[in-house]
Amino acid sequence: MVTATTDTIVGLIADILTRRGSDSYLGEAVTMQQHMLQAAAQAQREGAPEELVAAALLHDIGHYTGEFGEDYIEQGTDNFHEDAGAALLAPFFPPVVVECVRLHVAAKRYLCATDPTYFGKLTPASVATLAMQGGPMAPDEVAEFRRNPFFREAVRARIWDECAKDPDAITPSFADFAPLLQRVVARHAAG
Ligand SMILES: [Fe+2]
Repeated sequence: MVTATTDTIVGLIADILTRRGSDSYLGEAVTMQQHMLQAAAQAQREGAPEELVAAALLHDIGHYTGEFGEDYIEQGTDNFHEDAGAALLAPFFPPVVVECVRLHVAAKRYLCATDPTYFGKLTPASVATLAMQGGPMAPDEVAEFRRNPFFREAVRARIWDECAKDPDAITPSFADFAPLLQRVVARHAAG
């Protein structure tokens, strides 16, 4: 059982990605680590705030729920990696990060319902999981999604997610983002 603290959470995430980051990413041509790092790099290229770079980097951390100990599995959230990821991050990161992670599957369903060009940008693997995730949102779900105060940020993060699946892209390393993550954690801890 790993108990993270404000001082250890970034190191713990680094350790997880070092050991597990070469796992394949659910039918995509990139590894999990490439995917998460490319999403963060895309956010940074667009000049996004550090909190959103952190959200892009960590959006799929819920796939590694088991690394954080059995408590999270017992909460029954392990089948839904977006909820699991948000739960892992909530003690250490501000709400905008947590909500972008929690909503990243919903944001895909939202974009498929509201942006006619978006569905065509999905990879075959992402189209396959869309069906399992409930397909494009219905109008009442779209309205509900827009009530979340962070829905715009979640949509931005989702778009970075989608364009972070390029096996030929030059990908930064986790170390490039560790200081940024630590700053986000420190700001949140300072309130
Ligand atoms: Fe992703």
